[in-house]
Parts: sequence; structure tokens; C-alpha cells
Amino acid sequence: MIASAPAKIILTGEHAVVYGQPAIALPVSSLRARVEIEPSKDGFRLLVHDLRQTVHYVQHTTKDALVSPLQRVISLTLDAVNRPLPEVTMHLRSDIPIASGLGSGAAIATAVSRGIAAAVGVTLDSDSLNQIVFEAEKFHHGTPSGVDNTVIVYERPVYFIRGKPIENIKIAVPFYLVIADTGQPSPTRLSVADVRELVNNEPDHYGTVVERIGSITVAARALIERGDLIGLGKALNQNHIYLRDLTVSSEELDYLVEAALEAGALGAKLSGGGRGGNMIALTTHEHAVEIAEKLQTAGATRVIITEISQ
Ligand code: PMV
Repeated sequence: MIASAPAKIILTGEHAVVYGQPAIALPVSSLRARVEIEPSKDGFRLLVHDLRQTVHYVQHTTKDALVSPLQRVISLTLDAVNRPLPEVTMHLRSDIPIASGLGSGAAIATAVSRGIAAAVGVTLDSDSLNQIVFEAEKFHHGTPSGVDNTVIVYERPVYFIRGKPIENIKIAVPFYLVIADTGQPSPTRLSVADVRELVNNEPDHYGTVVERIGSITVAARALIERGDLIGLGKALNQNHIYLRDLTVSSEELDYLVEAALEAGALGAKLSGGGRGGNMIALTTHEHAVEIAEKLQTAGATRVIITEISQ
């Protein structure tokens, strides 16, 4: 038995989404967290192979004693399905780099929750699963907007506004994104806290930046729905400039963004929490491989090409 969940990228609107502005997020289905489940004779174990760790869980552990996000996921899932802990060994493996803005934490939580539900013979509905993964995200991020868990659980392009029902996006013309990793970790909790300080201390300036990023997302949605990739590229470039203003870019991210544009990308920006992690470059099928190669030459530690279509 296998359960899984995809990675994600944020196309536009990261950070501003924390303040009620919209964001567009897309699943990256080729990168996944997977849980394999096998029966066990000696109770429950979750083996986290990439970290060489074992997560144990004792039924009836009081909630205060649940220390790790994965234990929290297990506990919330058992509550939601109303079943005892299954006697299984779960093997967790993930292709998604950790702390790089690709939603590794939310994807792992989603795969584990689906795996527990499958092991007790229940299919969790997406709304309940989304709630569980959101709770787990609070462990990683403190005050997450909910965009990561939503795009990962529903695995479709979303136009997301905090606290509002998800809106779907119609992708008129398929496009390609080259996702390139700086190799530096992206400390989302820290960058979100730093942006909060800026917005609190200088609301006139940074409040306006946040609103302008929101307007870019509104425009980006219309451009995607019209199939205007040139316009979308310009919107991504502008979004990156505002993210720099919010101090969440880095030398490495700026360098890769420049390299992508020089290689002919229609637009490029950092994606996710920033300060490290990944950037994305918008392109078409014909130019994707060339841009990926240029980004690798420019120092990207990992490059992924993904097609975005309906
Ligand atoms: O998890 P990351 O690094 O993709 O960042 C999530 C996006 C933020 O807007 C920076 C934070 C949030 O909670 O939405």
C-alpha cells in the first residue's frame, strides 16, 4: 500500500499571502513524498529513511507530550478517522528537498496522514486532510497562511486567499517552469517574522509593497487565463523586485534570476520563503532545457523542469 503527496511552488504572492493578499500556487507532481505501508507484528513504527530516524507513537499520548510534527499528524489523523493506531510499519521517503520552498513539510505530513488513514481502511476527505496538514504546518512555520497545505492536498493549481474557499485557475496555454535550487536553506519562519517586523515598523511603505504584490497576483491570474505568457513573465519579474524590497531575496537568488533572464526566460523570481531555496523561471517547451542548463552552469545545485497545464 502506498500513499503520496506532491511538492509545490508558489508562482506569485508569497509573503503577501500572510497579510490576506492572494497567491497562486502550483503542484509539482513529479517530485513527491511517499509512504509505503506494511503489516507489522510489533506495533506501529514510522521510518523516516531520508533522515535515518524512527518516529514512535503511543496511543493515548496526551497532546502536550506530542513533540514532533509527525506525531501531531498521526494523532490528528487518528482523531479524524476515529480508529485505533494501526499495527503497521510505514516507510517514508521523499524526493522533495527540505527547507527549499517546495513544501517538503506539508507534503510529508499529507503523505503520512493519507498513509495512516489507508492503513485503517478509511479515505480522508480533502477538507479534513487539509485541516490536519495545516495544524502540522504551524509546527514548522509558526503562522502559516495555509497556501502550502492547500495546493499540496488538492494537487491542482490554486488561487489562494487566507481563510477563503479555494478558487481554481484555468490554464489557457500550458507553460513551463524551470525550478532551480540555490543550495542554501530557506528559513521561512525567520523570513516571515522579519517581513512582519518591516510591515509593523513601516506600514506605509511595506504595507503598500504587500498590496502591490497582491495586485500582481490578480493580474497574473488573468494573464494565465488568457494565455498571455509574455505578460505573465513581466508580472513575475515585478514580483521578484517587490520580494527584494521585502528583504527576502539573496545574492544567490538574484544571480540565478539574472542568469535565467539572460538565457531567455520570459520572467523569473524567487519562490517560497526566500533568502535561499528555489527560484523559478517561466518559459516555453522549446527553451526549457537550455534555460535549465544555463541555470546549472550559473551554480544551481538542482534543476527541475515542470509543465504547468490544466
Ligand atoms: O514554505 P515556503 O518556503 O514555500 O513559504 C511559504 C510561503 C510564505 O508566504 C512565505 C509563508 C506562508 O505561510 O504563506
